[in-house]
Amino acid sequence: MHFRVGLTRYNARTMRILLINGPNLNTLGTRETDIYGTSTLVEIVRAVTDRAAGLGADVRAFQANGEGELIDWLQRERKDAQGLIINAGAFTHTSVALRDAVADCALPAVEVHLSNVWKRETFRHESLLSPVVRGVVAGFGPHSYLLAVEALVGMVKGTE
Ligand code: DQA
Repeated sequence: MHFRVGLTRYNARTMRILLINGPNLNTLGTRETDIYGTSTLVEIVRAVTDRAAGLGADVRAFQANGEGELIDWLQRERKDAQGLIINAGAFTHTSVALRDAVADCALPAVEVHLSNVWKRETFRHESLLSPVVRGVVAGFGPHSYLLAVEALVGMVKGTE
């Protein structure tokens, strides 16, 4: 699922942030709403894009349910990007391949979760991604993504 939101004009100097959402996040809005709330992924992507635009950054967003699709997209897009926000869904806890792709992309990355994964089942307590990202934001619903974009854009600007 590719997202085209807003009309941010992209030029070579605009900071580009990649936003990856993994399996089952395409059904947000109706999926286990007691845990994940009622915002859809389209609404979340729009909110992240708007917040990023206010900070002078452009967002490219992608969602897929397959590990390979996520890795292929990241490998393709990383060249033109300065940062990554990733909610890998269940792959957070299982995918060595996605972890390796995030490590290899060499972008500063923020891991995001809508729910507080440490408050949930023990199999969600381990993240294979956390050791290869700069930081983790979890438990604030869609606001987790906005906190992530603010932190990431600020960090990238600080290192420019
Ligand atoms: C999630 C947490 C994961 O454990 C789960 O598999 C998801 C969503 C979250 O955003 O809270 O799909 O990443």
